Amino acid sequence: MVQQTTATTSTKPSAKPPGFRFLEPLNGKVVAPPPIWLMRQAGRYLPEYRATRKEAGSFLSLCYNPKLAAEVTLQPIRRYGFDAAILFSDILVIPDALGQPVRFEEGEGPKLEPIREVAGLSRLSSDRIHGHLAPVYETVARLRQDLPAETALIGFCGAPWTVATYMVGGEGSSDQAHARTFAYRDPAGFQSLIDILVEASVEYLSRQVESGANVLQIFDSWAGSLPEGEFARWVIAPTKRIVAGLASRHGNVPVIGFPRGASPRLVARFVAETGVSGVSCDTAMPLADMAEIQKGGVAVQGNLDPLLLVAGGAALDERVDEIIHALSAKPFIFNLGHGIVPQTPPDNVARLVDRVRAYRG
Ligand code: CP3
Repeated sequence: MVQQTTATTSTKPSAKPPGFRFLEPLNGKVVAPPPIWLMRQAGRYLPEYRATRKEAGSFLSLCYNPKLAAEVTLQPIRRYGFDAAILFSDILVIPDALGQPVRFEEGEGPKLEPIREVAGLSRLSSDRIHGHLAPVYETVARLRQDLPAETALIGFCGAPWTVATYMVGGEGSSDQAHARTFAYRDPAGFQSLIDILVEASVEYLSRQVESGANVLQIFDSWAGSLPEGEFARWVIAPTKRIVAGLASRHGNVPVIGFPRGASPRLVARFVAETGVSGVSCDTAMPLADMAEIQKGGVAVQGNLDPLLLVAGGAALDERVDEIIHALSAKPFIFNLGHGIVPQTPPDNVARLVDRVRAYRG
């Protein structure tokens, strides 16, 4: 055990919190150069990830192995010195913990026994989620100990809507047809599923904060398939409840929302109504609309096309400069518009980080 110093009578000013520089934009402040991290920064484009993944066996056994999950989280930090590390896990550990087992088929993505109607919810139970997710909390604790103090640690979960699309569909799909149909046929039944996920998400994220996460991101990867009314009900309202639930337990832990695929107008509504501190924007979001969101004091994050990171060269450099010039005078975090793809050359990531770091405001 490390000996704790009692702070009650001390007049020493408290040190800056871990990841301080990364947190500035989420507190409405501007830093130059802007902080940078990349979605899926730990992953198959890195040879050292592929080696650790092989050692772990299946993808989920990697997620539930604190030593190896911490190792793959740290790999991109060692290589590139990103301003934030993101916990290595997956959004689908929540259904797995609720009693709907998840399998990852090699090259095919996730598979679950689908829940197509309200009766299927009886298979779920919140009773044992913390026991099931204990290894993830341990990964967070290890990471906060092993990371440099200047690196923020991002915890995360999937948003209720996006997690529900996998639980109802039983696998990924391009149109989320099963979840949308369930929600139209039986809105009250679908609401029950969303309620279960809101509560589990608040519990899960709270434990991540208690274990050492400094900031949280909620991934709503399939938010773009909903009309405005359903977007308000299944994307905005659940996110707002999660943000409020976290605020009541942890004060002002910053939350970044990611309503991927939503139109600029709906993203603006999402920002105005959910209470997030930052919003991650996908590649299709015009920079002018991102700048408009910044005027309200909320940080924006994004939104380089992941395929420019595959292409590299002058095309990459030019777009990086364009994004930085458009957004870095207001609260901004550099990122991609979606996750790194496996065919990305690691040298292009180094080139990107160097270019962002060279910016002086
Ligand atoms: O580095 C990081 O960003 C942290 C780890 C992370 C993973 N998944 C690792 C992962 C995070 C934050 C996620 C989130 C996630 N998972 C989302 C939301 C973000 C997004 O990409 O839209 C979604 C929809 C999932 C569900 C999921 N996980 C799918 C559909 C797949 C299969 C697709 C694929 O790329 O193979 C996964 C697997 C997955 N999650 C991998 C990784 C590194 C690849 C698995 C492997 O190593 O074989």
